[in-house]
Amino acid sequence: MNILFLLLGVITLNTPKTTLVLQAEPGKELKVVEYGARLTAEETESLSSAGYDARDLYTAYGLKTYEEPAIAMIQPDGNATLDLAVTAVECVDWEGGKLLTVTSRDRHYPVEVKNFFKTYDAADMIGTWTRITNAYTPTRKDKQTIILTKYASGELQLRYEDVWVTTFYGGWGNECRIVEAPLTYGYRSVKNVDGTRNSQLAHAEVMISLDGKGRENEGRVIGAALCWGGDYELTFYTENKPVHTFIAGICPDNAPYYLDGGCSLVTPELAYTWSDEGMSGVSRNFHRWGRKYRMAHGDCERKILLNSWEGVDLAVNEPVMNEMMDDFAAMGGELFVMDDGWFGNKYHRDTDSYALGDWQPDVRKLPGGIASLVRSATDKGLSFGIWIEPEMVNVGSELYEKHPDWVLKAEHRDQLYGRGGTQLILDMANPEVQDFVFSVVDDIMSQNPDIDYIKWDSNMSVREHGSQCLEHQTHQNIAYWKGFEATLERIRAKYPDVTLQNCASGGGRINWGIMNWFDEFWLSDNTDAFQRVYMQWGASYFYPAIATACHVSDVPSHAIRKFTSLKYRVDVAMSGRFGIELLPSRLSEEERAFVTRAIEQYKEIRPVVQFGDIYRLVSPYEDKGCASLMYVSEDKSDAVFYWYRMVCLYSQKFPRFRMQGLDPDRNYLVTELNQMERRKLPYDGKVFSGRFLMEHGLEPVRTYLDLDDQERTDWCSRVIRLTAQ
Ligand code: DGJ
Repeated sequence: MNILFLLLGVITLNTPKTTLVLQAEPGKELKVVEYGARLTAEETESLSSAGYDARDLYTAYGLKTYEEPAIAMIQPDGNATLDLAVTAVECVDWEGGKLLTVTSRDRHYPVEVKNFFKTYDAADMIGTWTRITNAYTPTRKDKQTIILTKYASGELQLRYEDVWVTTFYGGWGNECRIVEAPLTYGYRSVKNVDGTRNSQLAHAEVMISLDGKGRENEGRVIGAALCWGGDYELTFYTENKPVHTFIAGICPDNAPYYLDGGCSLVTPELAYTWSDEGMSGVSRNFHRWGRKYRMAHGDCERKILLNSWEGVDLAVNEPVMNEMMDDFAAMGGELFVMDDGWFGNKYHRDTDSYALGDWQPDVRKLPGGIASLVRSATDKGLSFGIWIEPEMVNVGSELYEKHPDWVLKAEHRDQLYGRGGTQLILDMANPEVQDFVFSVVDDIMSQNPDIDYIKWDSNMSVREHGSQCLEHQTHQNIAYWKGFEATLERIRAKYPDVTLQNCASGGGRINWGIMNWFDEFWLSDNTDAFQRVYMQWGASYFYPAIATACHVSDVPSHAIRKFTSLKYRVDVAMSGRFGIELLPSRLSEEERAFVTRAIEQYKEIRPVVQFGDIYRLVSPYEDKGCASLMYVSEDKSDAVFYWYRMVCLYSQKFPRFRMQGLDPDRNYLVTELNQMERRKLPYDGKVFSGRFLMEHGLEPVRTYLDLDDQERTDWCSRVIRLTAQ
C-alpha cells in the first residue's frame, strides 16, 4: 500500500488512508507540503499547481529566530545558530511499512541531524524521531562539546482554520480528565515535569480536531502521542499565518544537553495518525497500532485477576493470600496478584515508611516464601503475580544503609522525602542502580519461574534535581529514562513472557513510551465506578481496553469512600481489562454469584473487548444523563455495547441506544449481560438489523419502574451483546 517517489525532492509517504508529502531537496531545508487524507500520485503532483507551499518541518534555531524552533544548539565556538540542509534521503522497507531517513547537515559546522519517518500501515500511523550527532572530532584537550538547548522529536504544520485541541490531565484519583479548547493565537503548552510519573497531571497525547470542536464519529482529526516516560513538552504555536505549528519532544527546561564530539542523542518517537472518522477513528488507529506494534503481548488475551491491595492493604500474610486465592479460584478467576506489603525483614513493610529496596519475603508474614504461594496458586488453577516498586527505596531499608549514594540528591541541600515521609528515588542513570533494578526482577523470576505477572509501581515524583553519578546535572531526565529503558530492555530480553503492569500511584505512567515493555497500566487508585466512567472514557482516546486495568472493588470505595451498586461496578469494569480488587469473603452469597457469572460472561466477550474497535457514542461530559460506548470485532460479527447512567434528573430523556460500526446488512441477536432479577428488556433475545441498530437504535431504560430495587438509586447500567446471525 505504501508508495514512495522522489521527484524534485518531493517524497510521498503513504499509509492505506493517509499521505504525508515532504520536500527534501538536497541543499535545502526539510519541508512538509501536506498531511491528511490519502492522495493519488497525480493529486500529489498537482499540489504545487493547487498553490500549496512547503513549510519547515524541523525548524532550527538561529537564522529564523522569530520562529518557534524544534532544535536549538550552541556550537563549541559559542555560535548559537544551526543552519541545516538536506544531504541524503534513504527509504527502506520494514515488515509494517517504510522507514524514511532524511539526513541534514549544518552548512558550516560538523553537525548532523537525521529525521526518521516510519509508517505503520496496519494502523495508518506515522512515527517520527531524530538522531542529533556532533560530528566534530574531539581532541585530547577539547571534547568539542555542543550544547543542545532544544531537541524535539518532531513538528507538524496544521493548515486548518477552526482547530480544537483535546488534552488530558489528572492528578491522583482523578486521572485522564479531558479538556477541550479551540486553538487561538499565541502559545499553548502541554507539559509534564513530574520526573517519574509523566501522566500525573498532563498527558503526552493530544487530539487535534480539524473541523471545529471534536466529534466522536465524524470530522477530520489528528491524534499525536509522544512516546517517552520522562518530562516532555508539546507546544502549539499560532501566529499571523494560516497554520498552527505543533512541536513535541522532551522538555528542555533547565536541561541543556552536552553532546561531545562523536556522540549522538536519539529523541523519542512522536506517533501520529489522521482519521476522518472523528476522535473515535483516531482512537481505533492508536489502539490497533498499540496492540500490533508497541505494547507487550498486544495479541494475547489478558487474564481475569484478583489484586490484594484494596482487600488487605499492607496486611499481607500467607493465610489471607490463600483464602483470597481459594475464593477467587471458585469464582472462575485466573490470576492472583499479591500487592504491596510482602517484603522486608530487618525493616518491615507494615507501613509505607519502610523496606522499599529490601525485596525479600517477610518471614513473619510469608514463612513459606513466595514459592509456597506460587505452588498454592498453581494447585488452585490460578497464575500468580507480585508487586514491586524497584526504582524506589525507603531510608529505613538495608538497601539505603548500603547505598545512600544511589539515590537522587542535590548536593548541599537537605534531602527531600516522598511517600511515608521516607521514600527516595534510586537514580536510574546510575549503571549500578540499573543492575540492581534488573536483579530485583531477575531474582524473583529466577527463584520463582512460574510467576506470571509483575505489577511495577512508582509512587514518588522527582522532588529534587540531583544525580550523584552524572557529570552534567542537566542530563538527569534523559539519563534516568534512558537508564530505565535499557533496564526494561534487559528484563524483557530475559523474561519475554511475564505480564508487566505499569502503575504509578494509579495512572501516573500512562504513556506509549513506557508501554513498549508493559502489557497494561493501572488506571487509578480511585476505583469508584462513577468516576471510572470518566477515566476510562479519557484513557480510551489513546489506549485500548486490553491495556486498561479496571477492577471491581468494594464499597465504600477504597480511595474516596463512595457507594455504587455492584452491578454498576461490574458493568464499568467489564469495558476494560477486567479484574477484581476486594476481599471476596466480604461478598454476600448473592453478590458472589453475580460476580462469578460476570467472570464467566467476560470470558465470552473478552476477545471483542480486548481486540475490537472502539466506538464512543454518548460522552459522560455531555449533559445527557448517561454515557455509552461499544466495541465491535474486526469482522463485525460480535459487539458489546455499554450504557451507564450518569448524573441525571427525574424525567430526563436518555438518547436511544444508537450503535456504530456494525454491518448494516447483517442481523444481530441482542442479549443482555449481567442481568439482574428485573423484567427482561423488551429486545433481549430479539434480532435486529445492523442498519436499524445504527440508524434508529434501541430504547433505553425509561422509568424507575423498569429498574430493580438495587438499581433505583443513582446507579443503573446495561451491557448488551450483539451477535451476528
Ligand atoms: C499505589 C498503587 O496505585 C496501588 O494500586 C497499590 O499498589 C499501592 N501503590 C501499594 O503501595
